[in-house]
Amino acid sequence: MNVRTVSIDLQQRSYNIAIGDSLFDNPATYAELPIASSALIVTNNTVAPLYAQRLQRALQGKYANVQTLILPDGEEYKTWQTLNQIFDVLLQNGCDRKTILFALGGGVVGDMTGFAAASYMRGVPFVQVPTTLLAQVDSSVGGKTGINHPLGKNMIGAFYQPLKVVCDLATLKTLPARELSAGLAEVIKYGPIADLDFLSWIENNVDALMACEPAALAHAVRRSCEIKAWVVAQDEREAGLRAILNFGHTFGHAIEAGLGYGSWLHGEAVGCGMVMAAQLSYRLGLVELALAQRLTALIRKAGLPVTAPCLAETDNAGRYLELMRVDKKAQSGEIRFVLLDGSGGAVLRGAPDALVREVIDASCICL
Ligand code: NAD
Ligand code: GLY
Repeated sequence: MNVRTVSIDLQQRSYNIAIGDSLFDNPATYAELPIASSALIVTNNTVAPLYAQRLQRALQGKYANVQTLILPDGEEYKTWQTLNQIFDVLLQNGCDRKTILFALGGGVVGDMTGFAAASYMRGVPFVQVPTTLLAQVDSSVGGKTGINHPLGKNMIGAFYQPLKVVCDLATLKTLPARELSAGLAEVIKYGPIADLDFLSWIENNVDALMACEPAALAHAVRRSCEIKAWVVAQDEREAGLRAILNFGHTFGHAIEAGLGYGSWLHGEAVGCGMVMAAQLSYRLGLVELALAQRLTALIRKAGLPVTAPCLAETDNAGRYLELMRVDKKAQSGEIRFVLLDGSGGAVLRGAPDALVREVIDASCICL
């Protein structure tokens, strides 16, 4: 398969996203990276047995000292304590500020490794080698890095761009079906907020995507990265436009935090959150009911939940509202939602609590 390259234009922080097969273990993939004496591969105990040795071998010709750090797997480990393990290894091995980090894994490893790179000695270079669909279409691109805090998801972090992103589609073959569906949530997201033709393409190809057909995956990853690169190039630090990439995330983050990190997958929470955000858009008169229904059908077909979980026995909607006020998009305690605008785009705005409560009550099954 050919290597497709999507460029992300951020002046001196510009970089390429390479998309193809058999890329991550090919030394040529890393040829343009700067010379350094040390490289640290950060991965987890699920991905390491599958891919770490192959990456280590690909890097050994270029870097004299290549170490691999294996972290525990799971969103519940996206914490300060786990992040500190990266700093421990860097310091114990006398790694200098030219040391280059390689994030090998999904979004959890990528976000933590990126944050470690942003902070170690005030910044060392890093490369994203995403191995989940979600990470290839979203989290590895655009430079958002960080960890969770018990009071809020991704609340501690930094904007810090990688030197390169290596999306090897072959690594998706070992991904469990549930994780593939979670990644599809972030692929679907790009359609209603930026490209209705892409939404139609996903509707027509969702079965091929779920069957991991290479041509379908290659198109989905490339188009998603193109849209993300276009948005991030205009608004790297989320002063405005970039917030549209959080479609479904305000409700989704409440679900993740309310159930406890790791209970629902991030993509599952985002999928359900998009159903809720589309309903809110409809109830505010921004879109036709047909668009909300179309999106719900696609999210269901992608194997994602469309019914929201109950987060509290009494005043469930109040619990959602409380959790959503911690969202980074909230301003002076007012929750701001990414809503569909009816013309193939999205807007960031508030909504009356009463209407949000209606959406939550209609979306949740509370026994
Ligand atoms: P994840 O990193 O937890 O990976 C999902 C699971 O798949 C894990 O168990 C992992 O070990 C396993 N895995 C990874 N690659 C595999 C492979 N090739 N074969 C088999 N198993 C594999 O989850 P994720 O969905 O990749 O990422 C979710 C995280 O990304 C969340 O923490 C979320 O907040 C973050 N995120 C960040 C951004 C951003 O812009 N930085 C955007 C979206 C999501
Ligand atoms: N995943 C949302 C963003 O990168 O802005």
